[in-house]
Amino acid sequence: MIAIDENVSLKPYNTFGLEVTARYFTEIKETGQLISLLQDPAWTSVKKLFLGSGSNILLLNDFDGLVIKISIKGITQTEETGGYVILRAGAGEIWHEFVLYCIERNLGGVENMSLIPGTVGAAPMQNIGAYGAEIKDTFHCLEALNLETLQTEVFDRERCAFGYRESFFKHEGKNRYVILNVSFRLSKQPVINASYGAIRQILAEMGVDSPTIRDVSNAVIRIRRSKLPDPAEIGNSGSFFKNPEIPKEEYLKIREEYPAMPGYEVSEDRVKVPAGWLIEQAGWKGKRFGEVGVHDQQALVLVNFGKGSGAEISDLATRIQASVAEKFGITISPEVNFIF
Ligand code: EPU
Repeated sequence: MIAIDENVSLKPYNTFGLEVTARYFTEIKETGQLISLLQDPAWTSVKKLFLGSGSNILLLNDFDGLVIKISIKGITQTEETGGYVILRAGAGEIWHEFVLYCIERNLGGVENMSLIPGTVGAAPMQNIGAYGAEIKDTFHCLEALNLETLQTEVFDRERCAFGYRESFFKHEGKNRYVILNVSFRLSKQPVINASYGAIRQILAEMGVDSPTIRDVSNAVIRIRRSKLPDPAEIGNSGSFFKNPEIPKEEYLKIREEYPAMPGYEVSEDRVKVPAGWLIEQAGWKGKRFGEVGVHDQQALVLVNFGKGSGAEISDLATRIQASVAEKFGITISPEVNFIF
């Protein structure tokens, strides 16, 4: 029997620290438990929410259904080929602990993504990325439970349809699968990726000429700690919005009025613009409205100072979107998943 608790506060289970209640709550440690639960007729028609560590969700209401926290653990080496090893990690492993596990074994590929909050199972959903790396670069495959057939299916990189903060699981696969484990292809001869300016700068400050993956990880940790609020201290969900991609033509036109506007070419005719810059220019950085606000070091991050609600965060996000649209004619969309 799986223990199901009633009327559980979700505050410890969402990094925004929102005080909402789940009608039912349970934690799953093995795939078998999950299948038994889903086969149990008592729960078939009950609304369900699958949670990792709740670092990319905005809970707008009490959840009148069953919250299932996925805590499937374990890291195993499944293959070793030439210069690579394949590690399979349970969906409930904490992402940063997995990164440290790789660094301790000098296995390269995920070090630039040090300290990203969340679990391994949530990472492919939005193809997490930071400081010049994305999960799709080291992704090998994953196993997910099909909620209709209760069969396990294997997804290779192509089937995951990764894009910038996007995957199959945010679109066609939404609410249809639960990720059980993810396998990564890690390099035994790590290639250092210090393409991101701030990493190079910190390594230089640290006096490191030939960095190891641990040095890169330490540099990333320093950058993140200086710019991004720690959810243990102040509720947040990392970047709230995605960086918009706009046609190059439109970018050049807006730049005539705002020559300082940064932009990175993502293809011949499209440019990605940092939403943090747009939000800061629209005057929102560091602004506080009661219990919620915009972080003072990184305008892309919305924060809950303590007693804020999902609705207040959502209202603030809507106002920011409208003001950026009015000032620049650019639409910014949330990266965070809204749970109604
Ligand atoms: N910027 C501003 N003002 C701000 C924030 C940023 O002008 O308040 C400008 C910066 O000066 C810089 C540019 O925007 O020129 C980019 O800023 P930054 O390097 O901080 O990265 P970002 O584009 O704002 C993205 C990711 C982060 C990731 C960093 C580093 C998205 C939505 N966010 O932020 O990911 O850590 O790059 O690679 O792509 C997350 O997804 O939760 C997250 C934190």
